[in-house]
Amino acid sequence: MAKSILCVCLGNICRSPTGEALLRAALPEARIDSAGTAGWHVGKPPYGPMQAAARARGYDLSQQRARQVKADDFHRFDLILAMDSSNLEDLQAIRPADATAELSLYLSVLNNAPTDVPDPYYTRDFDGALTLIEQAAQAWAAQLTGT
Ligand code: 4NP
Repeated sequence: MAKSILCVCLGNICRSPTGEALLRAALPEARIDSAGTAGWHVGKPPYGPMQAAARARGYDLSQQRARQVKADDFHRFDLILAMDSSNLEDLQAIRPADATAELSLYLSVLNNAPTDVPDPYYTRDFDGALTLIEQAAQAWAAQLTGT
Protein backbone atom coordinates (compact mmCIF):
# COMPACT_ATOMS: atom_id res chain seq x y z
CA MET A 1 0.00 0.00 0.00
CA ALA A 2 1.06 3.65 -0.39
CA LYS A 3 2.77 4.44 2.89
CA SER A 4 3.27 8.12 2.23
CA ILE A 5 0.74 10.47 0.67
CA LEU A 6 0.98 14.20 -0.08
CA CYS A 7 -2.26 16.18 -0.63
CA VAL A 8 -1.89 19.26 -2.82
CA CYS A 9 -4.19 22.23 -3.50
CA LEU A 10 -3.55 25.84 -4.45
CA GLY A 11 -3.12 27.69 -1.16
CA ASN A 12 -2.65 24.79 1.32
CA ILE A 13 -5.06 26.47 3.74
CA CYS A 14 -8.44 24.90 2.79
CA ARG A 15 -8.70 21.66 0.83
CA SER A 16 -5.33 19.95 1.15
CA PRO A 17 -4.91 20.44 4.93
CA THR A 18 -8.40 18.94 5.25
CA GLY A 19 -7.44 16.13 2.89
CA GLU A 20 -4.36 15.54 5.02
CA ALA A 21 -6.21 15.43 8.35
CA LEU A 22 -8.96 13.15 7.09
CA LEU A 23 -6.53 10.74 5.40
CA ARG A 24 -4.46 10.64 8.58
CA ALA A 25 -7.58 9.77 10.57
CA ALA A 26 -8.49 7.04 8.05
CA LEU A 27 -4.94 5.67 7.60
CA PRO A 28 -3.17 6.14 10.94
CA GLU A 29 -0.11 4.12 9.91
CA ALA A 30 0.66 6.08 6.75
CA ARG A 31 2.79 9.24 6.56
CA ILE A 32 0.51 12.04 5.34
CA ASP A 33 1.35 15.65 4.54
CA SER A 34 -0.03 18.52 2.44
CA ALA A 35 1.31 21.43 0.42
CA GLY A 36 0.18 24.18 -1.95
CA THR A 37 1.25 24.83 -5.52
CA ALA A 38 1.33 28.54 -4.55
CA GLY A 39 3.45 29.98 -1.74
CA TRP A 40 1.12 32.79 -0.66
CA HIS A 41 0.20 31.35 2.74
CA VAL A 42 3.44 29.60 3.75
CA GLY A 43 3.66 29.25 7.55
CA LYS A 44 -0.03 30.00 8.13
CA PRO A 45 -2.56 27.65 9.79
CA PRO A 46 -5.58 26.47 7.81
CA TYR A 47 -8.21 29.12 7.02
CA GLY A 48 -10.52 29.84 9.98
CA PRO A 49 -13.85 28.86 8.35
CA MET A 50 -12.29 25.63 7.07
CA GLN A 51 -10.97 24.81 10.55
CA ALA A 52 -14.41 25.52 12.04
CA ALA A 53 -16.20 23.26 9.56
CA ALA A 54 -13.68 20.47 10.21
CA ARG A 55 -13.88 20.92 13.99
CA ALA A 56 -17.67 20.51 13.80
CA ARG A 57 -17.04 17.00 12.43
CA GLY A 58 -14.35 16.19 14.98
CA TYR A 59 -11.19 17.01 13.01
CA ASP A 60 -8.54 19.34 14.44
CA LEU A 61 -6.59 21.25 11.76
CA SER A 62 -5.11 23.83 14.15
CA GLN A 63 -1.56 22.44 14.26
CA GLN A 64 -1.01 22.34 10.49
CA ARG A 65 1.06 25.01 8.72
CA ALA A 66 1.06 25.79 5.01
CA ARG A 67 4.05 25.05 2.83
CA GLN A 68 4.71 25.05 -0.89
CA VAL A 69 5.21 21.86 -2.88
CA LYS A 70 8.84 21.25 -3.91
CA ALA A 71 10.69 18.98 -6.35
CA ASP A 72 11.87 16.71 -3.55
CA ASP A 73 8.23 15.84 -2.75
CA PHE A 74 8.09 13.81 -5.96
CA HIS A 75 10.69 11.47 -4.41
CA ARG A 76 9.63 11.62 -0.77
CA PHE A 77 6.02 10.45 -1.27
CA ASP A 78 4.55 7.31 -2.87
CA LEU A 79 1.37 9.08 -3.92
CA ILE A 80 0.58 12.75 -4.56
CA LEU A 81 -3.13 13.60 -4.62
CA ALA A 82 -4.26 16.85 -6.25
CA MET A 83 -7.50 18.38 -5.01
CA ASP A 84 -8.51 19.61 -8.47
CA SER A 85 -7.52 19.31 -12.14
CA SER A 86 -5.75 22.66 -12.15
CA ASN A 87 -3.58 21.56 -9.20
CA LEU A 88 -2.84 18.34 -11.12
CA GLU A 89 -1.75 20.29 -14.21
CA ASP A 90 0.49 22.51 -12.08
CA LEU A 91 2.04 19.41 -10.49
CA GLN A 92 2.63 17.77 -13.88
CA ALA A 93 4.42 20.95 -15.00
CA ILE A 94 6.94 20.84 -12.10
CA ARG A 95 7.27 17.05 -11.88
CA PRO A 96 10.97 16.06 -12.19
CA ALA A 97 11.72 13.57 -14.99
CA ASP A 98 12.92 11.00 -12.47
CA ALA A 99 9.97 11.41 -10.07
CA THR A 100 8.93 8.24 -8.28
CA ALA A 101 5.63 9.44 -6.80
CA GLU A 102 2.38 8.47 -8.47
CA LEU A 103 0.17 11.46 -9.30
CA SER A 104 -3.60 11.31 -9.06
CA LEU A 105 -6.71 13.29 -8.13
CA TYR A 106 -7.99 13.06 -4.54
CA LEU A 107 -11.50 12.28 -5.78
CA SER A 108 -10.38 9.74 -8.41
CA VAL A 109 -11.08 6.97 -5.89
CA LEU A 110 -14.82 7.76 -5.88
CA ASN A 111 -17.40 6.63 -8.42
CA ASN A 112 -20.17 9.06 -9.36
CA ALA A 113 -18.33 12.01 -7.87
CA PRO A 114 -17.02 15.21 -9.43
CA THR A 115 -13.40 15.29 -10.64
CA ASP A 116 -12.51 18.31 -8.53
CA VAL A 117 -13.09 19.41 -4.96
CA PRO A 118 -14.58 22.90 -5.56
CA ASP A 119 -12.43 25.50 -3.81
CA PRO A 120 -14.38 26.64 -0.72
CA TYR A 121 -12.17 29.73 -0.43
CA TYR A 122 -14.23 30.96 -3.39
CA THR A 123 -17.48 28.96 -3.16
CA ARG A 124 -17.73 29.38 0.67
CA ASP A 125 -19.17 25.84 0.80
CA PHE A 126 -16.76 24.47 3.41
CA ASP A 127 -19.14 21.71 4.48
CA GLY A 128 -19.67 20.52 0.91
CA ALA A 129 -15.92 20.29 0.39
CA LEU A 130 -15.60 18.36 3.65
CA THR A 131 -18.26 15.86 2.62
CA LEU A 132 -16.43 15.06 -0.63
CA ILE A 133 -13.04 14.89 1.10
CA GLU A 134 -14.40 12.65 3.85
CA GLN A 135 -15.92 10.20 1.36
CA ALA A 136 -12.68 10.06 -0.61
CA ALA A 137 -10.46 9.64 2.49
CA GLN A 138 -12.52 6.64 3.55
CA ALA A 139 -12.42 5.19 0.02
CA TRP A 140 -8.61 5.62 -0.17
CA ALA A 141 -8.25 3.87 3.18
CA ALA A 142 -10.40 0.97 1.98
CA GLN A 143 -8.51 0.74 -1.33
CA LEU A 144 -5.02 1.03 0.14
CA THR A 145 -5.59 -1.41 2.97
CA GLY A 146 -7.60 -3.81 0.80
CA THR A 147 -10.64 -3.77 3.09
P1 4NP B 1 -7.06 26.04 -1.13
O1 4NP B 1 -7.92 27.39 -1.24
O2 4NP B 1 -6.29 25.92 -2.44
O3 4NP B 1 -8.07 24.97 -0.97
O4 4NP B 1 -6.14 26.22 0.07
C1 4NP B 1 -7.35 28.65 -1.50
C2 4NP B 1 -6.90 29.41 -0.46
C3 4NP B 1 -6.38 30.68 -0.70
C4 4NP B 1 -6.33 31.15 -2.00
C5 4NP B 1 -6.78 30.37 -3.05
C6 4NP B 1 -7.28 29.11 -2.80
N1 4NP B 1 -5.84 32.45 -2.25
O5 4NP B 1 -5.99 32.94 -3.39
O6 4NP B 1 -5.29 33.09 -1.34
